Amino acid sequence: MRKQISPATSVSGAVQLPGDKSISHRYAMLASIAEGATKISNYSTGADCQSTLACMRALGAENETHDGILCIHGRGLDGLHQPAAALDAGNSGSTIRMLSGILAAQPFATTIGGDESLSRRPMERIMKPLSQMGARIEARENRFPPLTIHGGKLHPIEYTLPVASAQVKSCVLLAGLYANGRTTVHEPLRTRDHTELALREFGADVDVDRLSISVTGRPRLEGRELRVPGDLSSAAFFLVAALIVRESNLTIHGVGLNPTRSALLDFLAEMGAQIRILDVSSSGGELIGDVLIRKSRIQGGVLEKARTAALIDEIPVLAVLGAASEQGLIVRDASELRVKETDRIATIAENFRRMGLKIELSKDGFEVPGRQQFHAAEVDSFGDHRIAMAFSIAALAADGPCTVLGADAASVSFPEFFDTLQRVAE
Ligand code: S3P
Repeated sequence: MRKQISPATSVSGAVQLPGDKSISHRYAMLASIAEGATKISNYSTGADCQSTLACMRALGAENETHDGILCIHGRGLDGLHQPAAALDAGNSGSTIRMLSGILAAQPFATTIGGDESLSRRPMERIMKPLSQMGARIEARENRFPPLTIHGGKLHPIEYTLPVASAQVKSCVLLAGLYANGRTTVHEPLRTRDHTELALREFGADVDVDRLSISVTGRPRLEGRELRVPGDLSSAAFFLVAALIVRESNLTIHGVGLNPTRSALLDFLAEMGAQIRILDVSSSGGELIGDVLIRKSRIQGGVLEKARTAALIDEIPVLAVLGAASEQGLIVRDASELRVKETDRIATIAENFRRMGLKIELSKDGFEVPGRQQFHAAEVDSFGDHRIAMAFSIAALAADGPCTVLGADAASVSFPEFFDTLQRVAE
């Protein structure tokens, strides 16, 4: 799909965003292996989270939606069955990596794969700990999907993550639910802790000691009622839009403000963004609140080390902000960007080139000068949802209408993106 985006003079009003993608995956997986029904409101409408639901259904956990509330019928820890065909994780790295933790413990073999982009993403990071726990996994070239997971009885392990990854941490913790004893994961940096919070909500015994997380195997997980906060990573596109378009004043209601995700707001505030947070409450252990933002003069910024890891999903749209800022943006330590839905260093750079924007690349990052003029161009999502949305936001600040090729990729995490944008951008 080609989408034409015209320059805007204001991004204003109030919006409510669909449920957080990361939290939705976790709730769907845990609900499926809990006892009884779980009712989830504001479940992500993105294709990735629908892939998780389809996988869980194929494994025996039925679900239906009534009046916007998703109901998942849990099968209990040992109630899943062998799917009739290979599972399809679509474009979703979270689905394949986290679900593999559950599949590794099943008394049957399962094949799980996905689309072309997913088939190029590294899986040895989950294969290694799961093999140590006792599963046998076959993969294309020993590291790419599809994976065939021969599950079985698992033993607990203590595992140090070589790369900071919440998906890998979650995979090991989910497998740990099935191992007799305590499974511990040591993280090099704090990554998003939605799995830990969700496990506790469902009744598991989880212990967090700084960068070490332990789960006790064989808990009784119980179905419950949950609300998914709005997705802060989706909000990021609108926050940047409001910062770079002249007369903006935007409110985003009900956004997830989990401290392991909200580094974005701190970083924007440090760069000079006028942001206010109101009405903070908690739901399922997750913080939630309203974010108000207005057009601000944005200074430069440097992203490196732990901060790069904390903001990894937001870097495409922060690159756009960097080009509109006073002093520009430097990003270091971001080699993980190379193995996302696309090589995001390359796809950001190509769209910068098309819009006449300067960017200097390094192996694990880039440098974007500030005060740049965005030129009308035909940009491309390259099939990557965050690239589609980041450059739709860049288009709002261009000197003429832009075309976004493959704009439908946005529906992987945010199908309502273009409708929402149309409502607030003038
Ligand atoms: C996610 C973790 C991050 C993030 C991804 C979602 C999660 O990936 O980039 O979009 O839900 O746990 P990594 O675990 O690969 O860092």
